Amino acid sequence: MTGFDYQEALKNASRSMVRVKNPRRLLKMITRFIDREVGVTHSSVLMYDHTRGRYIFVDSKGGLKFPVNLVKLDQDNPLIRWFHERELGSLVSRDFVSKAQLFGWLHNDHLLSQDPNLMERLLGVQEALEILRASVCVPGYYKSDLVGILILGEKLNKKDFDIQELTFFQTLANDAAMAIKTAEFQDDLVAQNRELKDKHSELEHLVGELEEMRRKERRSYYEIVLSLAREVDEKDHYTYGHVEEVERLGLLTARSLGLNLEGRRHDILAAGLKLHDVGKIGIPDEILKKCGKLTEAEYLVMKEHPRKGARILEPLANFEEVAKIVLHHQEKFDGTGYPYGLKGEEIPIESRIVAVVDAFHAMTSSRPYRKARSIEYAKAELRKYTGTQFDPQVVEAFLSELNQMIREETALNSDVPLDRAS
Ligand SMILES: [Fe+2]
Repeated sequence: MTGFDYQEALKNASRSMVRVKNPRRLLKMITRFIDREVGVTHSSVLMYDHTRGRYIFVDSKGGLKFPVNLVKLDQDNPLIRWFHERELGSLVSRDFVSKAQLFGWLHNDHLLSQDPNLMERLLGVQEALEILRASVCVPGYYKSDLVGILILGEKLNKKDFDIQELTFFQTLANDAAMAIKTAEFQDDLVAQNRELKDKHSELEHLVGELEEMRRKERRSYYEIVLSLAREVDEKDHYTYGHVEEVERLGLLTARSLGLNLEGRRHDILAAGLKLHDVGKIGIPDEILKKCGKLTEAEYLVMKEHPRKGARILEPLANFEEVAKIVLHHQEKFDGTGYPYGLKGEEIPIESRIVAVVDAFHAMTSSRPYRKARSIEYAKAELRKYTGTQFDPQVVEAFLSELNQMIREETALNSDVPLDRAS
């Protein structure tokens, strides 16, 4: 070993250690290196095994090598305890332990007299060294964790290890411990990453379930809407399919106006269109079904239907916006409508759409007190009251959608469905 450049060897060793990802390979490199460069009867590595809570021989080289994985040292083995309790014992250095050093300590009466347990502990370590046929043991720590122990037999040239060599082994052992821990951390990170990915897919599954719940919620929302709307239909003696027609025309008009109809917005408008007259449920039949003109008192009762409608929807969760559309569907653009006399854009746009579509559809449907009017008549009426009763933009959008629809249906040479009622 004379002339051996420890500094250079260390530099090379730590450089390759950083690159090594597999701790087993690293330990093999170390034992092979010592076996080749130092020349010992054997060089072995004891490593802490997390799963078993013991130290195990993971690599061994040389003539007197140990069977790997078979020799195990428990936590209470005197050698393991000696290095574990490094922090406690300040009487002697525990950076490594050698046969020569132990011999010296065991013959130092002054040292032994300072701690009544020291002799017994040293004898235990000495015995452990004999069993391991070790001349020197060098612990590798990471922070205060004893990661492993480098065990060296006798030098082949029968000389003692000198301090330069021992310092070299120490640095090597601690660097290796660090490299091993780093590799473990990397493995942990990979495992954690995998776990995260699992969690992520679990989350995706949950999101899917939530969406499914939302879909179901929306479905029941529609079921309530529809059953209420049908009741109104029946009571008001509109032609069958009135609510569906109003909904269809209203949605087309809204789309033509460029309103946002994404997700919930679509559902809210659709429900508003279908349910605008739901309050008529609360109007006595003799007023609702009266053939002649309503008296002033009867008309006042009739005018309550938007409020009644909004009140019917009140207890239903998520129906607030629908209730608002219903409440204001009888307002007029010039502020002369009811129940609040709102004007222009004060009236929710959805309510302004309902007003136009409903007026048109009511005119073109047969009622108990009159026959259905023609489409042309209804269109003329909308134009006549545009700006006073109706929002001009809504009327324009509605008429353009209606004309488009009529053109398409005429082209198909089928009946115009809006004329069914006439
Ligand atoms: Fe109404």
